[in-house]
Amino acid sequence: MAEEVKKRVFSGVQPTGKVTLGNYLGAIRNWTPLQEQYECLFCVVDLHSLTVTQVPAELRKNTLDLVALYIACGIDPEKSALFIQSHVHEHSELCWILDTVAYVGELNRMTQFKDKSKKHADNINMGLMNYPVLMASDILLYQTQYVPVGKDQIQHVELARDIAQRFNARYSDTFVVPECLISKTGSSIKSLQDPSAKMSKSDPNDNAIITLTDDPDSIRRKLRRAVTDSDTDAHCVRYSADKPGVSNLLNIYSLCTGTSVAEAERLFEGKGYGQFKDAVADAVISVLQPIQSEQKRLAADKAYLESVLKQGAERAEHIACKTLSKVYRKVGLVPKSR
Ligand code: TRP
Repeated sequence: MAEEVKKRVFSGVQPTGKVTLGNYLGAIRNWTPLQEQYECLFCVVDLHSLTVTQVPAELRKNTLDLVALYIACGIDPEKSALFIQSHVHEHSELCWILDTVAYVGELNRMTQFKDKSKKHADNINMGLMNYPVLMASDILLYQTQYVPVGKDQIQHVELARDIAQRFNARYSDTFVVPECLISKTGSSIKSLQDPSAKMSKSDPNDNAIITLTDDPDSIRRKLRRAVTDSDTDAHCVRYSADKPGVSNLLNIYSLCTGTSVAEAERLFEGKGYGQFKDAVADAVISVLQPIQSEQKRLAADKAYLESVLKQGAERAEHIACKTLSKVYRKVGLVPKSR
């Protein structure tokens, strides 16, 4: 029987800041099952991180720590290509070509560019503006069908679609036009201090986020301090729009234990918030502890990480190099003779 051609999935995470429980429950954890159904490429996008000021030694450490974390979370380097963006030079090269297809106007309108320009007003560099074109290169380089991302990245994937379609119209069919894959569960874990905002790794308030490296004591402390709701129904663990803080904790509890929200409501009926928060802490700790110890073990095994990254980059390069030479040919560049 001919082997079925699997559709391709690509996603990336920046090695900047700390990965949060929200990133894990909403993104990374949902990638594991995709590995069975699709040909997956998971990338640590270090070049993207350079668009805001980095301490070089920290960037290097964060990059390798994130690779170890991916594996600890269940990304299997035998099934998926796991690699570092800068190891496959085609990303930057395709970016240049796509820069000649992308318009300044559309990049100027990107929400994340506008937000980051405000936040890093002293360093509005060209890379920050060009960020979405590099992301489009990441995706289009692999003829990706599906891109699993959070809601905040939909606009960037849409730009990648526009660029692909524009290129295809101008130079004939070249790129697969990608689609977002938005996970139904867990994509909306909120800040513990302001449940109207998402749990974001760039949140300056450490009490608002649980990171994958937090120890059990900090997890418990942060959850005890989590904002609950002071409505007439105080001390009633119920999922509802007027109880966003409690609803967020119920969501976290449900995703960490596999209990449905309705079931959890029954479980905590008549119980106080204190008891409820402790149970949420237990649930989070028991999910994170095995990941943390595995992450530590892997991060210390430099030889293993290097071999994974070498293999991942080779697999990625094989596809990347085909796409890039096709693109060079289509736009009229003279091929180098071998
Ligand atoms: N911009 C993405 C984020 O911040 C990271 C990213 C870079 C990405 N390249 C990508 C995600 C390609 C998906 C596909 O979350």
